[in-house]
Amino acid sequence: MPHSFGYRARTRHLFSQKFREHGPVKLSTYLKTYKVGDIVDIKANASIQKGMPHKFYHGRTGIVYNVTKTSVGVIVNKRVGNRYMEKRVNIRIEHIKHSKCRDDFLRRVKENAQKKKEAKAAGQSIHLKRQPVQPREARHVSTKDNAPTTIYPIAYETLI
Ligand SMILES: *[C@@H]1O[C@H](CO)[C@@H](O)[C@H](O)[C@H]1NC(C)=O
Ligand SMILES: *[C@@H]1O[C@H](CO)[C@@H](O)[C@H](O)[C@H]1NC(C)=O
Repeated sequence: MPHSFGYRARTRHLFSQKFREHGPVKLSTYLKTYKVGDIVDIKANASIQKGMPHKFYHGRTGIVYNVTKTSVGVIVNKRVGNRYMEKRVNIRIEHIKHSKCRDDFLRRVKENAQKKKEAKAAGQSIHLKRQPVQPREARHVSTKDNAPTTIYPIAYETLI
């Protein structure tokens, strides 16, 4: 017999409620405001079966393009072969949350603007480009009261 290819096929663990996260949905979920253009993360909540996203969209991030009473429309890019398809999915708000993917960038923009302003006021030039963590600086280690020891690997012995 062939196995099934239903809409929720193979989501037994994907859509199961995580440990200590069972139960009715918190009211704060419904008090969030979504606007067109917001970036949202899609994470299906199995406590609510209506307006659930397809398993493909679970864990993806998209942009809101339509807002209704209970739901939002989200644009998600789906990779199909050698191209990206722009998919529009309608999802209830229980299954989405605001994404934090842009917070760090926005914070950095603000910080850099502030730093630039300060540098300009002080008449200095400033480099704002980020650098990856560099190797540690070379140092001199004194051998006075600190005789060097040679370390060898312990000889292999069978324990049987
Ligand atoms: C679903 O809703 C419940 C109740 O608010 C919550 O505890 C749980 O974390 C939610 N599940 C997901 C996957 O967001
Ligand atoms: C938003 O969704 C509603 C309900 O499905 C639909 O009537 C309306 O045309 C949609 N608006 C846009 C801009 O897609």
